[in-house]
Amino acid sequence: MSEPVPEGVDLDHPNPARIYDWFLGGTTNWAIDREFGAKVVETFPLVRTMARVGREFLGRGVRHLASQGITQFLDLGSGVPTVGNVHEIADSVNPGSRCVYVDNEPVAVAHSRVLLERQGDPARHAVLHGDLRHADGIWERALATGVLDPSRPVGLIVVNVLYFFGDGDRPYDFVARYRDLLPSGSYLLSSHLTEDGVPREGSSERARVRSQYQSSGSPLHLRTREEFTRFFDGFDLVEPGVVWVPLWQPDVAASPASEEFADEPSASSAFAALGRKP
Ligand SMILES: C[S@@+](CC[C@H](N)C(=O)[O-])C[C@H]1O[C@@H](n2cnc3c(N)ncnc32)[C@H](O)[C@@H]1O
Repeated sequence: MSEPVPEGVDLDHPNPARIYDWFLGGTTNWAIDREFGAKVVETFPLVRTMARVGREFLGRGVRHLASQGITQFLDLGSGVPTVGNVHEIADSVNPGSRCVYVDNEPVAVAHSRVLLERQGDPARHAVLHGDLRHADGIWERALATGVLDPSRPVGLIVVNVLYFFGDGDRPYDFVARYRDLLPSGSYLLSSHLTEDGVPREGSSERARVRSQYQSSGSPLHLRTREEFTRFFDGFDLVEPGVVWVPLWQPDVAASPASEEFADEPSASSAFAALGRKP
């Protein structure tokens, strides 16, 4: 990328948001991200498909929520905008939907701003640069944008994000805090990398990927099915419950990458679920 580097962008380390963008075929990344991404793909080529599968799940989840009448979303760790952004999918079902994006990577935030300036509506869309671990502050800032109405249910999206937090970040506590702040009838949509029940084939390559992320300064914290399910404490799980990502309300036409796991969904190495706050 030759465009000016937004303030605060760390080009000394590869960054998860920009690496993910590269996995997805985007252009919002720098040489340091691409070199790291290429090393990971060399170690475990399936990662690019896994990223697409994660993005397809996000799309199915938002479409499902929108079809249930959810018209406002808070997308935590939203990443670099790419095809199928939450506000676009929500609008395609319910025109006039609302969405606040949150990320701590300045490039992701800068690109989200540009996209929203071009295609968004400031009354209905906003992006915040912030650390999603601080639930009270993020919630307060999200409400201050005027985009979200705290008296109506919100779709809280934390997709492909929670594995960046170790227990020291107290992820169960901050997710529970968001749950407490959300109005009743709100939802939590999430997915999470795991090794629990994943085929042994490829396990040493996946372990190498984890050590590559560890040395890049962004360790991955995999969780078991039971540990992932704990994030939904206080929510009622929506059918089909906690399942492999490609199996969450599959939609063959809208999820071509997920079809690559049709014979062995556990090879996707990630769980997905949706919960509703009673
Ligand atoms: C793998 S990407 C997922 C992007 C998007 N949710 C998706 O599913 O396509 C993870 C995102 O989480 C963001 N992130 C990581 N730690 C964060 C934090 N403490 N606060 C806000 N965002 C964070 C990263 O910058 C990155 O954009």
